[in-house]
Amino acid sequence: MAHHVVTLVGSLRKESFSLKIANALAKLAPSSLKLEVVTLHGVSFFNQDLEATPPADWSAFREKLQRSNGVLFVTPEYNRAIPGVLKNAIDVGSRPYGKSSFNGKPIGIISNAPGQLGGVNAAKNLQNILPGLAGPIMQQPEIYLNAVGDAFDDKGELVKESLRTVLQAYIDLFAVHAEKHNA
Ligand code: FNR
Repeated sequence: MAHHVVTLVGSLRKESFSLKIANALAKLAPSSLKLEVVTLHGVSFFNQDLEATPPADWSAFREKLQRSNGVLFVTPEYNRAIPGVLKNAIDVGSRPYGKSSFNGKPIGIISNAPGQLGGVNAAKNLQNILPGLAGPIMQQPEIYLNAVGDAFDDKGELVKESLRTVLQAYIDLFAVHAEKHNA
């Protein structure tokens, strides 16, 4: 059966490049992977006071992560870090203490930007945050996608061949990473 990979999108924007990249990856994924693209509109603010009776949206998000066979992050960089909405979702998923819903899940990190630096600081930020609460992060290839502004047509379809090649190579290798850590 295909490994189910929750693909978290770090932007809430309707025309988000991160969302379009996640959707493109879902189409390019080999048959051994099934990507579920998840936006974070519905994950309410983490508040430790609510942990005794967690809001339904936290429980649903945590269960989705727990049921998955891996998690892919596709995110822009906001002010040299990950967007707050993604950090909030990680905080929600990481609790209760010692019971992170990301535990043991093979992880992939893909940053992007219309600019030249490819959101590298967001990727590095995730590499700092995740080791204490998630499973093994795929180390290679590193992927910081720059100049994504001309990669999609008005229907959101990927039209930039150089990006398609990079995404295909990445998702094929992530399939190997997911297989290895779900054996
Ligand atoms: C940005 N942007 C940005 N880009 C970058 O390369 N480094 C940065 O630090 C920032 N900082 C930043 C902060 C805020 C608040 C916004 C709104 C934007 C630009 C960003 O890469 C661009 O808006 C992307 O298109 C956002 O990603 P999505 O929504 O297309 O996925």
